[in-house]
Amino acid sequence: MEPQIRHGCSLLLFIFFIFPFPPSSAQSPDADGYSCTANQTTAPCQAYVFYRATAPDFLDLATIADLFWVSRHEISRPSNISDSNATFPLVSGQPLFIPITCSCNSVNASVSISYANLSYKINSGDSFWLVSTSKFQNLTTFQSVEVVNPTLVPTNLSIGVDVVFPIFCKCPNSTQFKNRVNFMVSYVIHPQDTLFSIASRFGVPTSEITAANRPNPKAFDTIFIPVSRLPNLTQPIVLPPPPEQPPAPAIEGKNRAVTGLAIGMGIAGFLLILMVGLWVCGVGKRRRSEREMKEGIERQKLQEVGIWKGKGKEMEMDLMADVSDCLDKYRVFKIEELNEATNGFHERSLIQGSVYKGSINGVEFAIKKMKWNAYEQLKILQKVNHGNLVKLEGFCVDPDDTTCYLIYEYVENGSLHSWLHGSQKRKLNWRRRLRIAIDVANGLLYVHEHTRPRVVHKDIKSSNILLDASMRAKIANFGLAKSGCNAITMHIVGTQGYIAPEYIADGVVSTKMDIFAFGVVLLELVSGKEAIDEEGRVLWMRASGFSEGKEKEKLDRLKNWIDEALFEQSCPMESVMDVMNVAVSCLQKDPTKRPSMVEVVYALSKSDDAVFDFSDDTLSAPILTAR
Ligand SMILES: *[C@@H]1O[C@H](CO)[C@@H](O)[C@H](O)[C@H]1NC(C)=O
Ligand SMILES: *[C@@H]1O[C@H](CO)[C@@H](O)[C@H](O)[C@H]1NC(C)=O
Ligand SMILES: *[C@@H]1O[C@H](CO)[C@@H](O)[C@H](O)[C@H]1NC(C)=O
Ligand SMILES: *[C@@H]1O[C@H](CO)[C@@H](O)[C@H](O)[C@H]1NC(C)=O
Ligand SMILES: *[C@@H]1O[C@H](CO)[C@@H](O)[C@H](O)[C@H]1NC(C)=O
Ligand SMILES: *[C@@H]1O[C@H](CO)[C@@H](O)[C@H](O)[C@H]1NC(C)=O
Ligand SMILES: *[C@@H]1O[C@H](CO)[C@@H](O)[C@H](O)[C@H]1NC(C)=O
Ligand SMILES: *[C@@H]1O[C@H](CO)[C@@H](O)[C@H](O)[C@H]1NC(C)=O
Ligand SMILES: *[C@@H]1O[C@H](CO)[C@@H](O)[C@H](O)[C@H]1NC(C)=O
Repeated sequence: MEPQIRHGCSLLLFIFFIFPFPPSSAQSPDADGYSCTANQTTAPCQAYVFYRATAPDFLDLATIADLFWVSRHEISRPSNISDSNATFPLVSGQPLFIPITCSCNSVNASVSISYANLSYKINSGDSFWLVSTSKFQNLTTFQSVEVVNPTLVPTNLSIGVDVVFPIFCKCPNSTQFKNRVNFMVSYVIHPQDTLFSIASRFGVPTSEITAANRPNPKAFDTIFIPVSRLPNLTQPIVLPPPPEQPPAPAIEGKNRAVTGLAIGMGIAGFLLILMVGLWVCGVGKRRRSEREMKEGIERQKLQEVGIWKGKGKEMEMDLMADVSDCLDKYRVFKIEELNEATNGFHERSLIQGSVYKGSINGVEFAIKKMKWNAYEQLKILQKVNHGNLVKLEGFCVDPDDTTCYLIYEYVENGSLHSWLHGSQKRKLNWRRRLRIAIDVANGLLYVHEHTRPRVVHKDIKSSNILLDASMRAKIANFGLAKSGCNAITMHIVGTQGYIAPEYIADGVVSTKMDIFAFGVVLLELVSGKEAIDEEGRVLWMRASGFSEGKEKEKLDRLKNWIDEALFEQSCPMESVMDVMNVAVSCLQKDPTKRPSMVEVVYALSKSDDAVFDFSDDTLSAPILTAR
């Protein structure tokens, strides 16, 4: 009798294990959130969610990391994505583990629910339901969002309002801890999952999963998988990324921000379609579909390599199609030309970072070696053309090693940073400095006011300002530039000492952050000091309070600020004061109080006219005689 019953039981269980979860019809009992008792364990605890990269918006780690308020690194490590691949686009369906901090939060006197607080800014078109089911992939429900945001009216959300999205999670209880359950992974059941497929994915017995959850979960419910450690995720093999560029302080700047997204369109687009296909086809047989996925990608990889190696032209044509608008403006260089110009990219041709100097048919160029994501820069540079911006002359695609080259005009005299903070600072008299300020202001004015959508440079600093043969300034390195305003990002890029406070605090990207950074450059021009000193103190902090008090007090303060090299040259104090005042107004903490570039250009030009009303002689005279 007994064995029979047991047999029947296991048959039942077996059926339960191999059949997919039923679709959710009725509302789940936990739609409001999973209840908890506040004294359960040592809350808050570390937990993870299982997340699937999805097209079109969530195919790069940066975007997903932003959504969950973690760094890329914190996702790539537990997800078995090597850091060198972390900037590479993901494929649709790629599994990820994302760390969250889980805690038990009381909703009212009688109810506490367990969740991770994730703040999310409402965009246009967002609803609680849409964000829960799409961006957060049903890791929370709109009902629960309503419960934890009692003051918000779901039907009347204003754009930009912060909403807490309670991501469902659980902390192990004391018995589970004793059984070496260290984490609970929040997992949303997909219609094609079976209990068995989930258990084998996580390497835990099915019984432990059922014990830790409510009976009869349905598709799209969140369940919690007790694990002692995270299982090893097998990641699809992706095309190896091009070698990391060495950090390059001057012309190069930091390029890391322009990550996978850009390449995503090109390489991953194709991959992705294939992936989606494979993922959908493997219904019900997760393990098989996984194997297929891997094989598919391997096949795909071979094909890609084939494209790179054999059909390089095709890829090249693709890139060209992408930038076809600017083809007539730009020259397309051949890799052989560049190799010859730089002696095969010899060290001696290296200017800085990944920028080489080369001469082609007697004309000198700066050649910047880049990853494929040059798209972004090309797209932006194609829109900008101004005498105070370093001009892009052309580009080159090397299909053999997935590299792209941007060829810029060669700017003879190097960066403002090296002039101001090097041995040559005395050669920069006040007039020259003022002209540099005006040049940069004009370049920025153009970038801010004459591009649609507006471009924000995001990395204005003295090392991104280059000086040509007649010491006129040009803005370089649009590597971090963003088009479109008032975007919010959590990835703070830019350079210490120049970053606007609101950008650090909220990630707000606007033209006002360039204006702030420009204010710092003005301070450098006046003081000859670096934006951040060796002890890490930032220059702009010291400028607060400058404009308080009477003119006399300001003048005394100014004397402390002024570069000694300028003092020796008897420079016009009123002009320096004007520039200092502009700098201080650019550096206001409240971005709305900062002037626009139009006002800045006006103020600086007025000062220039007042002091140097005629003759361009001193400016165009050879530098070496300027002393
Ligand atoms: C802790 O939880 C137990 C039930 O699990 C309950 O009886 C007890 O009152 C709780 N203690 C506190 C301080 O809330
Ligand atoms: C990361 O890239 C390397 C090549 O650089 C490749 O061998 C490896 O498989 C990739 N790893 C993952 C998880 O994609
Ligand atoms: C507490 O919140 C829960 C979930 O929203 C709700 O069902 C319950 O009625 C509330 N209880 C009280 C006493 O307000
Ligand atoms: C989540 O937010 C709620 C309300 O803002 C707060 O009471 C709770 O302590 C927060 N929990 C965590 C883990 O930050
Ligand atoms: C979330 O659940 C809904 C059904 O409740 C489903 O239509 C949707 O596809 C799910 N989203 C994801 C990303 O699985
Ligand atoms: C919607 O919200 C706005 C501002 O939050 C408020 O002024 C308006 O009265 C609200 N409308 C309704 C119908 O509640
Ligand atoms: C801990 O959780 C397990 C599984 O959910 C349950 O069987 C057990 O009774 C819980 N222990 C305590 C002390 O709450
Ligand atoms: C990481 O993924 C690769 C496949 O991309 C797999 O071969 C390897 O075993 C995994 N590593 C770990 C530690 O799980
Ligand atoms: C995961 O990978 C690590 C190191 O590669 C290995 O020691 C461990 O046994 C693997 N765990 C599982 C569950 O496969």
